[in-house]
Amino acid sequence: MRTKIVAGNWKMNLTFEEADNLVDELMSELEQITLPRDVKVVLCPPAVYLEMVSDYAGDSYFMVGAQDVSEHEGGAYTGEVSAAMLASCEADYCIVGHSERRTYHGESDQVVAAKASRLLEHGLMPIVCVGEQLSDRDAGQQLAVVQRQVEGSLFHLDSNQIQQVVVAYEPVWAIGTGRTATAAQAQEMHQHIRSLLAAKYGQAVADEVSILYGGSCKPSNAAELFACPDVDGGLIGGASLKAKDFMAIINAIIG
Ligand code: PGA
Repeated sequence: MRTKIVAGNWKMNLTFEEADNLVDELMSELEQITLPRDVKVVLCPPAVYLEMVSDYAGDSYFMVGAQDVSEHEGGAYTGEVSAAMLASCEADYCIVGHSERRTYHGESDQVVAAKASRLLEHGLMPIVCVGEQLSDRDAGQQLAVVQRQVEGSLFHLDSNQIQQVVVAYEPVWAIGTGRTATAAQAQEMHQHIRSLLAAKYGQAVADEVSILYGGSCKPSNAAELFACPDVDGGLIGGASLKAKDFMAIINAIIG
């Protein structure tokens, strides 16, 4: 059975003290519930807080993810953070190819593919983001656009590697806008992504890959989205910054 995941993407928010308080609050809430074995909570703080966050849990209540990684192994790349560094700070996951990276930092599928490879080489699980722009959807091109991203970002991996990858479908028009994809739109795209994986790697492998929905996912819509058969959880931005909202989303996946 594939893993269900609720991952919080804090983006470039929170001071050290605010981040510390948020994890503290989450910990006391998580201690009250029993997470089923097939459900994982992942916190993705800014890289400078990774060690603080991972020190908190020691993997018992949540796992830790970074928000980005260098495509390079190491060396003279000022400001970059390598997969080896993330591994040495106890990160388990790392988001790559987020639309904000693709848009503001010009990341191509080729760069995203290289980043995913670096992470896998160091034992981290990439959360690879794909998603169409509003103009793509208005032109009826959303399936084709996401297909190109899936092929370009993931299809260099072999079938063992792909099972270590989490895919996040995040329609760009739904990120931080308050506008969520309907459950039907999410399911259609998630099924499409799984069918692409099945065509390349076989159905059994595709059935092992968790596909998360992201984009204005919040307590009021999480349960409906998570009820879709191919939606295996969420990548949560804004609502992951409030312990109560994030916990409500975690409770929605537990059902
Ligand atoms: P949002 O962000 O939940 O604030 O829309 C999701 C994301 O960008 O990962």
